[in-house]
Amino acid sequence: MGNLLMLWVAAAGMCYTTLSASAWSVSNFLVTGPKAYLTYATSVALGAQAGVEECKFQFAWEQWNCPEHAFQFSTHGRLRGATRESSFIHAIRSAGVMYTITKNCSMGDFENCGCDGSKNGKTGGHGWIWGGCSDNVEFGEKISRLFVDSLEKGKDARALMNLHNSRAGRLAVRASMKRTCKCHGISGSCSIQTCWLQLADFREMGDYLKAKYDRALKIELDKRRLRAGNRAEGRWAPTETFLPRAEAELVFLEDSPDYCTHNASLGIYGTEGRECLQDSRSASRREQRSCARLCTECGLQVEERRTEAMSSCDCSFKWCCTVKCSQCRRTVNRYYCTRPAGSVRPRARGKSSAW
Ligand SMILES: *[C@@H]1O[C@H](CO)[C@@H](O)[C@H](O)[C@H]1NC(C)=O
Ligand SMILES: *[C@@H]1O[C@H](CO)[C@@H](O)[C@H](O)[C@H]1NC(C)=O
Repeated sequence: MGNLLMLWVAAAGMCYTTLSASAWSVSNFLVTGPKAYLTYATSVALGAQAGVEECKFQFAWEQWNCPEHAFQFSTHGRLRGATRESSFIHAIRSAGVMYTITKNCSMGDFENCGCDGSKNGKTGGHGWIWGGCSDNVEFGEKISRLFVDSLEKGKDARALMNLHNSRAGRLAVRASMKRTCKCHGISGSCSIQTCWLQLADFREMGDYLKAKYDRALKIELDKRRLRAGNRAEGRWAPTETFLPRAEAELVFLEDSPDYCTHNASLGIYGTEGRECLQDSRSASRREQRSCARLCTECGLQVEERRTEAMSSCDCSFKWCCTVKCSQCRRTVNRYYCTRPAGSVRPRARGKSSAW
């Protein structure tokens, strides 16, 4: 018993350190949940953290840039808003957990799960059979459901929304899986192939969910039906009550606030002072438009700042085998959103000193 308690404490501490920013409600599932949870707690925390990082990456050049506090769940374990942005957060977190646990299974990190070989030996299609180590998404999905969905204690529309989006995140992991094959046959003739299903890169998953975010569906609430639903006991299957045809789509209930303007009471930083990308050869089209999105569309101007950066140059290859470079100074243009001279930054009234 003593050992078990120690383990609990250790696992809880781990969660707090890796997930402090997201204020993952450890006590919710570690202390009250079944003991089996312990085995997965660390991986779950790592998976959720991977979701946080991916969110930051996906939204780095957007007005809402997935700030750390967006993952702070209130005492009831929920986010403040029921916006498009919170739909993404729920989906990516749940996907991250499923993804990490699934990878762990394939790596043999857990005793009770491994590759999914259930179809091995069967014909998959013309010229190929199932074989090798397919990622066991079934298991990852189950653990993600256990951990992530148990955080949702409410029974209202917002709870439904959160559960729905968490599920959509898990469906995205499945949807972005890829078939990978290996050739067999006389001297690589590839007359027969064995194939298995593999998780995509987590980045691809993130791209996939970002696209879902872009066309997320707003749900208009039927108040009466929801109130009736509130009295129902136990958990609902969200897709049944909610959206029979859109199980893989992200859904939200409230329009997003204005992310341009600093608003302490809403926890919005505003885009003033943010960096944006322009004339960068490596930037995507969407990134190239970030100065318009972050500055111009928010009533700010784009300010160019010249900075000096050191980088390697004049490299030469010395026989054998080193590369010698000199350090060169290079002027780099960076772009920031600034308030046009003469205009004053609007001050939050009342609780303006909240941060
Ligand atoms: C699960 O995988 C992550 C890396 O993806 C690794 O850091 C973690 O230690 C693994 N969990 C276990 C229990 O081995
Ligand atoms: C912050 O947002 C709230 C809610 O939309 C609004 O009532 C308030 O006026 C905003 N404050 C500022 C300073 O814009």
